[in-house]
Amino acid sequence: MQEYHLQKSVVAKILAEHEGMPGNLLPILHGIQDSLGYIPQEAVADIAEALNQSIAEIHGVISFYHYFRQTPPGKNTIRICRAESCQAMNSQALQEHAKKQLDIDWHQTSSDGEFSLEPVYCLGNCACSPAITINNEVYGRVTPERFDELIASQRGAAE
Ligand code: FES
Repeated sequence: MQEYHLQKSVVAKILAEHEGMPGNLLPILHGIQDSLGYIPQEAVADIAEALNQSIAEIHGVISFYHYFRQTPPGKNTIRICRAESCQAMNSQALQEHAKKQLDIDWHQTSSDGEFSLEPVYCLGNCACSPAITINNEVYGRVTPERFDELIASQRGAAE
């Protein structure tokens, strides 16, 4: 995990860019996540202080939006579609399989730091449900076996 003193200047710059703007909390959170890949715990205190809000209020907003991460992402991000067409094609079983194989839940990163798992609600690939992406590459008709193959080849590519 990165040391916050290396990230603090990035957070300070984003806070300064949005100073005094109405409704600036979400743009600030997006800016930090875009720059650092997640919103570090220590940044929450800096945001709260800059916006004159409580740490609990900032936490409440971060946890309300599933998009925001509070832990660093893995090297590869896997998104599994949970929307209707994929659900009809057994996405639920695929989701459970993926969580078990990676030994993580949504929004978490595998212990080797390789994979993060995120839910997504339609990838526009409904005709080939169930659909997933790995690092924004779309894969369709993904069975649990195919999922394992994709993960194995991704691991191989990283070596
Ligand atoms: S519902 Fe899954 S890709 Fe559209």
